[in-house]
Amino acid sequence: MARQADFIAPSILSADFARLGEEVDNVLASGADIVHFDVMDNHYVPNLTIGPLVCDALRSHGVTADIDVHLMVKPVDRIIPDFAKAGATYITFHPEASEHVDRTLGMIRELGCKSGLVFNPATPLSILEYVMDKVDMILLMSVNPGFGGQSFIPSSLTKLAQARKMIDESGYDIRLEIDGGVKANNIREIKEAGADTFVAGSAIFGAKDDNDEHVYNTIINEFRSELAAANV
Ligand code: DX5
Ligand code: ZN
Repeated sequence: MARQADFIAPSILSADFARLGEEVDNVLASGADIVHFDVMDNHYVPNLTIGPLVCDALRSHGVTADIDVHLMVKPVDRIIPDFAKAGATYITFHPEASEHVDRTLGMIRELGCKSGLVFNPATPLSILEYVMDKVDMILLMSVNPGFGGQSFIPSSLTKLAQARKMIDESGYDIRLEIDGGVKANNIREIKEAGADTFVAGSAIFGAKDDNDEHVYNTIINEFRSELAAANV
């Protein structure tokens, strides 16, 4: 199966929350493909962010792009229907946060969303073996979840290659997403290792010109040209 088209997915964790709708409009107008929506509960991860109300508010604001909800919450099952109702496109969760991973994946699809599993840096991919037919997205964390602005963990490249091999051998149409420390100077090798969906928070929302103005189009264009230069 051919590799899916590259998706650039700004993580709104690094956006200005006081102007969230405008920030999302701006990154999409600057060429981003999907919106990465980080949900943290101060329990599964040591930080607290946003929930279904904010996802719903972005839809009411007029956002039509895919919303990629990354759940860093435990447990997960109770909140999933709320996100489906709030307009989530993808819903991904960490297997450690669900007692019944197969059931949770099934529930996400039954609610009409695309399902995905998220792997922390030290979590093995082995659990995937039995659920490849139930996932639309595999998300590899290249930092420990909880905060933006951390450094990319290099062993994630080896893991990406392993996940890419599993996807290709399965024949299923599954996206391979990377999340954490993605920058213009490493996105090319990340694509070469196998990713097709690239989350970037601080790199995109923190990009500024000499006058301290945000330049989302400049950084997204830079990502695109690095991706185009990848040897895949
Ligand atoms: C971390 C989140 C990431 C985060 C990435 O737990 O899942 O999506 O926002 O931020 P950067 O791109 O700054 O590493
Ligand atoms: Zn994330």
